[in-house]
Amino acid sequence: MKKSLRLLSAVAVIASSALLAFNANAVQLRGSHKENHVACKSCHTQGMQHAGTTEGCLSCHQSYDAVRALTEKNHPDLEVNPHMDGHLGELDCTDCHHMHKASEVVCNECHQFDFVAP
Ligand code: HEC
Ligand code: HEC
Ligand code: HEC
Ligand code: HEC
Repeated sequence: MKKSLRLLSAVAVIASSALLAFNANAVQLRGSHKENHVACKSCHTQGMQHAGTTEGCLSCHQSYDAVRALTEKNHPDLEVNPHMDGHLGELDCTDCHHMHKASEVVCNECHQFDFVAP
């Protein structure tokens, strides 16, 4: 009984690492990051087992203030700037911007702002 359990968990470990490798190969980037051939590691600063980090984003996008200013410049018509007019403080970039799947605007769990996160 014990032996077959151990065997079973060994099989599970092999299966899940194969799955991870498969996912890493299948993963696609979108938009400018794809066009600019941004390296995996510039976002995955804590290793490939972990999602991309805000620290990684800011190594290129500088700071929340810089991103906020960019949005103000490019979209002066927005009623609210998603990059800081909120009352949730400085969220992680990746709370809204996803890199391998569609982004979301967490504000709209409660509000109905009509912006879409790229
Ligand atoms: C190695 C540099 C680099 C890193 C790291 C990086 N970006 Fe970018 N990002 C760019 C460049 C370059 C552009 C294109 C800017 C332009 O065209 O003016 C861009 C554009 C964007 C855009 C605009 C939409 C688009 O696809 O054009 C968003 C949103 C964005 N980045 C979010 C992020 C987030 C969130 C992270 C972290 C998960 C991140 N970036 C990490 C370089 C980087
Ligand atoms: C609350 C959700 C949210 C968070 C958190 C967030 N963004 Fe955004 N971001 C948006 C939305 C929505 C837009 C599109 C706004 C518009 O309509 O122009 C956007 C646009 C952008 C753009 C394109 C700006 C332009 O006009 O070219 C960049 C670059 C960007 N975000 C980077 C970041 C980075 C870097 C972080 C973390 C420091 C971050 N964002 C955090 C929602 C968010
Ligand atoms: C611009 C930043 C950025 C780059 C470049 C990037 N990633 Fe990611 N990655 C993320 C973020 C953020 C997540 C969290 C899920 C999401 O946003 O799609 C993630 C999640 C993942 C995941 C977890 C599975 C999933 O889809 O949730 C894998 C695997 C992965 N990335 C592999 C890669 C590989 C391989 C590369 C290089 C070809 C790469 N990533 C390049 C930001 C990035
Ligand atoms: C968990 C729910 C929740 C989330 C998520 C949330 N808000 Fe709010 N927000 C509220 C509530 C409740 C109020 C107060 C409503 C009122 O007084 O009319 C409010 C008020 C505001 C106001 C001032 C009133 C207005 O509507 O003009 C702004 C601006 C605002 N939120 C922006 C944001 C932004 C930007 C985000 C995302 C970064 C966000 N909120 C996320 C619940 C939320």
